[in-house]
Amino acid sequence: MKTGRFVVIEGIDGAGTTTQVARLAARLKQGDGLSVRTTREPSDGPIGTMIRQVLTGRIVGADGIAPGWATMALLFAADRMDHVEVDIDPLLARGVIVLSDRYDASSVAYQSVVSGSRGEQAVDWIRTLNRYARRPDLTIVVDVPPDVAAMRREARGEAAQLYEQNEMQRALAAFYKDLPRHLPGDRILVVDGVGSPDEIADRVYAAYCQPE
Ligand code: TYD
Repeated sequence: MKTGRFVVIEGIDGAGTTTQVARLAARLKQGDGLSVRTTREPSDGPIGTMIRQVLTGRIVGADGIAPGWATMALLFAADRMDHVEVDIDPLLARGVIVLSDRYDASSVAYQSVVSGSRGEQAVDWIRTLNRYARRPDLTIVVDVPPDVAAMRREARGEAAQLYEQNEMQRALAAFYKDLPRHLPGDRILVVDGVGSPDEIADRVYAAYCQPE
């Protein structure tokens, strides 16, 4: 049987990755009649569920402070290996197209930005941690100016999660624009994330269909 396709959608908080994963899945299922499953990171497995509690402040250290970037990079990497083994690989083996809302590009971006001055050294270490995580066939970055993303986050009216501070999101937006340099060998396409959800969905679909 033909192996499925593993596609990841990435971007800063408020870029609309969750919406676009759902839109692309609907289009591939309904329009093209393909077998598609959506998934996300942090995953819905045990480690991913714990990570979400860290992100929302339900789990903190004894001093009330969230774990640092290196601890988070290790947690995300552990969650990812579990996610690949339990969900992603079995689906791909059955020929299913798997669309993931975030993958290891999020670790490379977020945890290296949070590491501050360590920059490139942190990127190398995070890539090493994820060396045995299956490479996506395609990563689509939804590129949104940080101010637009901040307005979208505000409109949601939810409490800010761990990394949802405007200054950090500005650094992340710059990092994502440069993502192909940080993940050499990966196939990465950056699409303009400004516009209506329909317009952006058309661009994401066009990126998905772009021949290699
Ligand atoms: P997000 O994907 O926005 O989920 P929700 O829809 O529940 O808000 O939140 C996940 C957060 O975790 C987001 O701020 C990005 C961050 N993250 C990392 O820092 N590293 C990672 O490896 C992953 C997968 C996510």
